[in-house]
Amino acid sequence: MAIPQIFLDTASLDECVELSKWGLADGVTTNQKIFLSEGGVDFKKRVMDICRVVNGPVSVETTTKTEDELLAEAREYASWHKRVVVKVAMTADGMGLKVVHQLSKEEIRTNMTLMMTYNQLIMAAKAGATYVSLFYNRAKEAGEDPLKIIRDYVATAKESGLKARIIVGSIRTPEDVASAFAAGAHIVTIPTKILRQMPFNKRTEETREEFDKAWQEFLAIHGGGAPAGVAARQKRGARKQR
Ligand code: E4P
Repeated sequence: MAIPQIFLDTASLDECVELSKWGLADGVTTNQKIFLSEGGVDFKKRVMDICRVVNGPVSVETTTKTEDELLAEAREYASWHKRVVVKVAMTADGMGLKVVHQLSKEEIRTNMTLMMTYNQLIMAAKAGATYVSLFYNRAKEAGEDPLKIIRDYVATAKESGLKARIIVGSIRTPEDVASAFAAGAHIVTIPTKILRQMPFNKRTEETREEFDKAWQEFLAIHGGGAPAGVAARQKRGARKQR
C-alpha cells in the first residue's frame, strides 16, 4: 500500500505556506467555490504562487462548456506550470470523459471531478485520468455509500492495474478523513479548517498538562537537572507569562 497522501482543499496561499510547514501538503485541489472564497485574487498569479509553495500536484478546474473550449482551457492551464493538474468535470453526455481521454493522449495530467459513484470512477480511470475525485459527503447526501465506493475502487485498481489514484474530497469532519483513509483512500483532500482540528485530542491535551506540571515539580526539587539551555528558556518563558 502506498503512503496515504494529504492534499489541501484550498486556494489560500497563507494556508499553503502554513500547512507545508506541518509537512502535510502533498498537493492542492481548488475549484470555483474555493476561488470565490478568496475574494478578488488574480487567478493565474495565485495558481503560480501555490505551485511555487507546494511541492506536489495542484488541481485547477476547467470552467468552459464545449469540448473544444475545455481542451483549449486545459492546455492553457497545463502550460502554466509543470505541477498543474487539470480538473475536468464528469458529465452525463460523456464529453468530460472524451476530454480526459484526449488530454491523456497529450500527456496532460487530469483530475476527473464531481464523481459520486463507483461506475464514474472506473470510467474516468479507464479514460486515462491521473486522479479520480470522489465527493464523499455529496455522495452520501445522494444516498451512496462512499466508504464502500472507496474500498471497491481501491480493490479494483489494485487487482486490475488501473493507475488512477482516488482523491476523496467533500470532507466535512476529521472523522470523514479517518474513515476515508481507513477504507484505503490513496489521497484525501482536506479543507484547512478541518485539518487544523485534526491534531487535537482532549486526552492528549490533558496528558500534556499533567506532564508539564510534573516537570515543574521536578525542576522545583532538582533545579539543576534540566539541560542548561532548556532551563534558561523555561525560566524566560515563565517570566514572560507573569
Ligand atoms: C475537491 O476537489 C472538491 O472540489 C471539494 O472537496 C468539494 O467539496 P465541497 O463538497 O465541500 O464543495
